[in-house]
Amino acid sequence: MKDDTRMVHSARNPQQHQGIVNLPVYRASTVLYPSLEAFNRRGEGDSKYRKVRYGAYGTPTTYALADAVAELEGGHGAAVTSSGLAAVTLALTAFLHQGDHLLMVDSVYGPTRQFCDTVLKRFGVATTYYDPLIGDKIESLIRPATRVIFTESPGSLTFEIQDIPAICAAARKHDVRVLMDNTWGTPVFFKPFAHGVDVSIQAGTKYIAGHSDLVIGIITARTESLFRQVKDTTMVFGDIAGPDDCYLALRGLRSMGARLRQQQAAGLKVATWLQDQPEVKRVLYPALPEDPGHALWKRDFTGACSLFGVILHTDSEPDIARMLDGYRYFKIGASWGGYESLVIPANPSKIRTAAPWTETGYVLRYHVGLEDPDDLIADLAEGFKRLGQADTPASSDQDDPEKGGRSSS
Ligand SMILES: Cc1ncc(COP(=O)(O)O)c(C=O)c1O
Repeated sequence: MKDDTRMVHSARNPQQHQGIVNLPVYRASTVLYPSLEAFNRRGEGDSKYRKVRYGAYGTPTTYALADAVAELEGGHGAAVTSSGLAAVTLALTAFLHQGDHLLMVDSVYGPTRQFCDTVLKRFGVATTYYDPLIGDKIESLIRPATRVIFTESPGSLTFEIQDIPAICAAARKHDVRVLMDNTWGTPVFFKPFAHGVDVSIQAGTKYIAGHSDLVIGIITARTESLFRQVKDTTMVFGDIAGPDDCYLALRGLRSMGARLRQQQAAGLKVATWLQDQPEVKRVLYPALPEDPGHALWKRDFTGACSLFGVILHTDSEPDIARMLDGYRYFKIGASWGGYESLVIPANPSKIRTAAPWTETGYVLRYHVGLEDPDDLIADLAEGFKRLGQADTPASSDQDDPEKGGRSSS
């Protein structure tokens, strides 16, 4: 079965639901049992992980979403969580104990870093940040106490591609688990388990849900025992997504392939245009042949989502505010993967520690939605005109390169 077919048909059995195409929303806390014996045996063996026992452990709607994502990523089993960030923190918690050491990629999503620096630190887990471009040299950072290497490829702010197979090979030698935030790669464009990853994390909030109307996470594991370790942790924390959000995420997943294809094409068109603009120093997008991560991306990924970064020549916040505030289609807001285009400042230099961000110039992160890319390019072109228009009487100098106009920025 190809992925497009899988996205339509996985975890769906209309004949079990009166022929209705979509699995209904099962709302539940209490689940009733026919006898005392059945109640007493409700958590035995496989039932603990895969049967409907109590609403907080999952309903048929929850399990259908988990199964669909697990099948698409090529994993053994998945647990659904209340948000993408909960998927990250619970996956880490599942594999770390007091006294353990964690290797965390320096380009990781900010709140993941915050979890390491606060909660994990408080509970006695030491974190070492590593250069996203480290590749097989990660082995030199592995200590006897290292239990987990966390990866995010590419980083969702600075877009460095990691050599995941090399990192997994080094980890395997030392019996270390590799966790990956695979939200950018999506379950379609990067197959984590085929590249050696043990546990994959999806912020289903992004392309899976696809409509900016819910938060949800999915943790998928390579083997049954890894899956059980993850599910035990989500259950003991009482973390679950509501059935309506699971339903919406599953509905989003059915059309994800088509959306991704259109957004990939539009993203590439917009990014290619951007890198030719005089205001742009560099576009951070592994799908571009000029990107330093392009060769690794081409080797390991089958596509690119529509999230990328742009380094501008200018660092002037008032100029950039004028450009962003006036966009017609690129709205200012966090998150990505929905049908609409977005932009936010990225500010990587404030975050990095292991591989400091040395590029000068303001970094913006763009998400390309389902709008026509020509309209988006026109919106960006108008924005660059505003970038050079100071609000002072000297603005008549805007087109004179000698006087700091936009053509010299
Ligand atoms: C790479 C990455 N991982 C995880 C998350 C967290 O997802 P959520 O917003 O569902 O908590 C985000 C959200 O922006 C993200 O960009």
